[in-house]
Amino acid sequence: MSESIALAVIGGTGLYQLAGLADVESHQPVTRYGAPSGPVRIGRLDGHRVAFLARHGEGHSLPPHRVNYRANLAALKALGAQRVLALNTVGGITERFGPGVLGCPDQLIDYTWGRVSTVWDGEADGAGGNEVLHVDFGEPYTRTLRNAVIAAAAEAGIAMAAGGCYGATQGPRLETRAEIARMRRDGCDLVGMTGMPEAGLAREMGLDYACLAIVANWAAGAGPDPDEVITLQDVLDNVAAASSGLPALLGAL
Ligand code: HPA
Repeated sequence: MSESIALAVIGGTGLYQLAGLADVESHQPVTRYGAPSGPVRIGRLDGHRVAFLARHGEGHSLPPHRVNYRANLAALKALGAQRVLALNTVGGITERFGPGVLGCPDQLIDYTWGRVSTVWDGEADGAGGNEVLHVDFGEPYTRTLRNAVIAAAAEAGIAMAAGGCYGATQGPRLETRAEIARMRRDGCDLVGMTGMPEAGLAREMGLDYACLAIVANWAAGAGPDPDEVITLQDVLDNVAAASSGLPALLGAL
């Protein structure tokens, strides 16, 4: 049994390492689902054992639809993680979620397709029996972990927009204005490409899971300038600026 990990963090676009992680060891477990996106870095953060994995690989070589979400979560679990905080770079749709905002959504809608979205894709595979095939997902993020994230942000003096709905799109292209208008009508506040199937798989694997969304841009047509063109450089610049408070937040968490 591995020594337990207080928190595992999965980094998204623009977040390829965890600032402040000390005494780092690297692990590259191969799971029953294959290899994770890259090495899992385990170190100490404010005295606690914390794991970090870059979702797209440390050199951002994997687009959202090619990430092996199952292997990533299984690797973290095998190394002793029970709580997973997903950092997701997103676009903002509704007024509260402008560029630079940190959000902690409490709902999601899945618009992705063609991704392996369950651990239950074979015959009885010994992972618990068919009785857990249909996991409850009414509340897709773990309430206790969400509350801890929101409390940690308050303790660290970091503004956070709590609640809201994350819409997971297929990508890798960004959305059309009509798609974002539809997502707004559906009730989405945020749009990203990696929130699913990750959250659903975490629930199937029995992991506590919450999303810390970093708003990098207004989604297509959602901001004050409806003709704005979204560039990767804008996304990366805004993620870097919005992430400056992350070490303090994670320390408090
Ligand atoms: N749409 C989808 N994913 C994203 C966006 C966006 O506008 N910005 C960052 N990730």
